[in-house]
Amino acid sequence: MTGDRSEYAIPNLGQTPERGRMAFEPRSQGATAARIEARGVRKEFDTRGGLVTALDDVTLTVEPGEFCVIVGPSGCGKTTFLRMLAGLDTPSDGELIVTGRGSGEPSNAMVFQGRSVFPWLTVRQNIAYGLKLQGTGREERREITDRLLTVIGLDRFGESFPHQLSEGMRQRVAIARALAVDPDLLLMDEPFGALDEQTRLLLQEELLRIWEQTGKTVVFITHSIDESLTLADRIVIMSAHPGRVKDVIEVPFARPRELTAVRSDPEFASLFSHVWGSLRDEVVRARRESGR
Ligand SMILES: Nc1ncnc2c1ncn2[C@@H]1O[C@H](COP(=O)(O)OP(=O)(O)OP(=O)(O)O)[C@@H](O)[C@H]1O
Ligand SMILES: [Mg+2]
Repeated sequence: MTGDRSEYAIPNLGQTPERGRMAFEPRSQGATAARIEARGVRKEFDTRGGLVTALDDVTLTVEPGEFCVIVGPSGCGKTTFLRMLAGLDTPSDGELIVTGRGSGEPSNAMVFQGRSVFPWLTVRQNIAYGLKLQGTGREERREITDRLLTVIGLDRFGESFPHQLSEGMRQRVAIARALAVDPDLLLMDEPFGALDEQTRLLLQEELLRIWEQTGKTVVFITHSIDESLTLADRIVIMSAHPGRVKDVIEVPFARPRELTAVRSDPEFASLFSHVWGSLRDEVVRARRESGR
């Protein structure tokens, strides 16, 4: 860690107790991706019905360049955790430290399910949006946008508006927009959840290819065990509400990964059983507790 470590404190959003700490720490020069360290992270929400504990004692490290997938029952705090990683909210207790490259604070970009593109902007403008905010010049914006349009296979749709695209195409635009700003950390909250299976498989392949080229640290949330096994270096299984880390599973499939090779690997079935075995209890508990 460098001596001139700068910290970026996320503003307190009003309902968050002061105890928690959220810091962004720059890494030594030359690093290419963010590192995440969560220690005893707790998150409470002050609601009309009283305090809701969304996360309790989450301890987790994600190494630079790692593809980390989080699975867990609905309501266990996955989105809450991702929002804190993005600096959109602060922990109520514990420490959450995102370490980036260079001297500035690490950058991140978030892809939400189906909500990540601006309908009033063209595809090209959507992809360039973050670059414009960063003050990137017109020429460079065009270069980066052209490259990403090719990467996501939408060269011919640069001037289209989102409503003229399919859901899968819109999600590709959302991913390109996140990648355009070259973030140290890519945060993805069920980005393929609403897609048909074939589009989903294609986008998984594309994401793997992009990730293998760029080496970003990725935290990816999904409800799909298949998807988690296809993408992850490690799968983090969270317990039912309040969320804790229940299990962490290493996924050993070789990189670069081919979807078909992963699915036909004999270890796929045993890992699937392992993840589902661990997750099943939590899903049942979550349903029982919410009366469903
Ligand atoms: N802003 C908020 N105010 C109050 N409670 C909240 C807020 N955000 C989340 N919660 C509560 O925190 C818990 C975790 O919510 P979160 O959205 O993180 O779950 P999740 O794991 O992402 O669920 P899903 O899989 O359904 O997306 C829930 O009980 C939710 O009601
Ligand atoms: Mg969520």
